[in-house]
Amino acid sequence: MAGEFQPTESQAKAINELDGRLFIAAGAGSGKTAVVARRFIEAVASGKAEVDQILTITFTKKAAAEMMNRVREVLRQQIAVDLDPGRVERLRRAYRNIERARISTIDSFYSRVLKANALAAGIDPDFAPVDEARSLLLKEEAFDACLKDFVRRHGKAGADLVLAYDRKLAGNLFAIINDVHATFRSRGREPRLPMPNPEKLVDQNRNRLQAAIDGFDEAVKLTGAEGKTVDNIRETNWSLRDAIKAPDLETRERLLLAGKPKRGLKKIQVEYDELKAAWEAYLLALKSQKAASIIRLMSDLLESYDQAYRDLKYRKGVLDFADLSLLTRDLLLNNKNIKKRLAASFSLIMVDEFQDTNPLQLQIAKMIADDNLMMVGDENQSIFGFRDAEVALFQAEKKQAELGGYSIRLLDNFRSQPEILAFVDGLPG
Ligand SMILES: Nc1ncnc2c1ncn2[C@@H]1O[C@H](COP(=O)(O)OP(=O)(O)OP(=O)(O)O)[C@@H](O)[C@H]1O
Ligand SMILES: [Mg+2]
Repeated sequence: MAGEFQPTESQAKAINELDGRLFIAAGAGSGKTAVVARRFIEAVASGKAEVDQILTITFTKKAAAEMMNRVREVLRQQIAVDLDPGRVERLRRAYRNIERARISTIDSFYSRVLKANALAAGIDPDFAPVDEARSLLLKEEAFDACLKDFVRRHGKAGADLVLAYDRKLAGNLFAIINDVHATFRSRGREPRLPMPNPEKLVDQNRNRLQAAIDGFDEAVKLTGAEGKTVDNIRETNWSLRDAIKAPDLETRERLLLAGKPKRGLKKIQVEYDELKAAWEAYLLALKSQKAASIIRLMSDLLESYDQAYRDLKYRKGVLDFADLSLLTRDLLLNNKNIKKRLAASFSLIMVDEFQDTNPLQLQIAKMIADDNLMMVGDENQSIFGFRDAEVALFQAEKKQAELGGYSIRLLDNFRSQPEILAFVDGLPG
């Protein structure tokens, strides 16, 4: 630890202000985590909460263990220096009961809630939570399994999609599907792509083109002209008629391109312009149809992957982070009493590293916290894409806090040189 801890004015405010919401957005080494630990102590010393009535959420298991040690250490110091017998008594009790402190990662917190309410959550209480690394392996396994089936079901179109992604695009198909899947789940939504419906557009434009060809033919006939130009026009129009009738998209597109309307007879400008415009519009509609068929393939792959991954987890009796979040959210949504009891069991909720919160986590935090939530974080330290966290969420909460007058900024940096080096050493590289 860096030197003697003498809280700054704003740190003291954050530590001692135990009622109401608080939002601390501050830079690295400004003492955010130190404030969480000291506020914990202040809450027990003042009688605001017993140790097990404070929910403290940290980012990693290691951070939770460190927080626990920090709290224990500061409790010891405070017991030695505090002059108020009532506070000392409460601090001693907290020190004795420190193992009951609810200091944990968000996943451990969800696991605990779900195990305690397994029946209501509709799950086997013996489930094992899996970490990110393990769940990635399961995801890859599920994807491989569903890919074989996907290609079998869709034949050439399916195989083409798989090959296109693996050969030409920077990201591979697994990464893309998995990202989309994770994004949906972190928002608490079923992983389903919105389906485009270009059929109506194609129909309308086919009818328009049909009418334009007929109109043009008729106009040519009325001129009474014959010869090479007129033969060419007839040939082009036949190609267009064939295009309209062709059974598959590729032939249709090929014939359509071969039948690009050619200017010929000067006298029939209006009908020619309409034919050209109708031809372009139909070509465009076919392109939408082509895109839609790719989106349908992607959507089918996404859904099969979702199912395969579900099956695999079910067989192994495991739940991943998104499951823990979704199940907890649903448990609390569907069981008002459980939600009430859980919310009432905490006098104080503090979330460190709040910048890495995803929409689902925020929703859950707000379900169990009211004006007793303290959010702490640094938007410059948000880990891009981590569990689909969105720094925009943090920024929105920050703005709200500033408007609501419950935001505190910490402006000093206390991290000493050796600490910074140790910290950088610990970064993944
Ligand atoms: N007022 C203070 N007086 C002395 N040391 C302090 C003070 N505030 C914080 N420190 C020390 O500065 C170091 C960094 O604090 P802390 O880890 O709480 O910062 P942080 O804002 O949580 O950093 P990060 O953004 O990396 O999470 C710690 O060793 C802490 O004890
Ligand atoms: Mg910190």
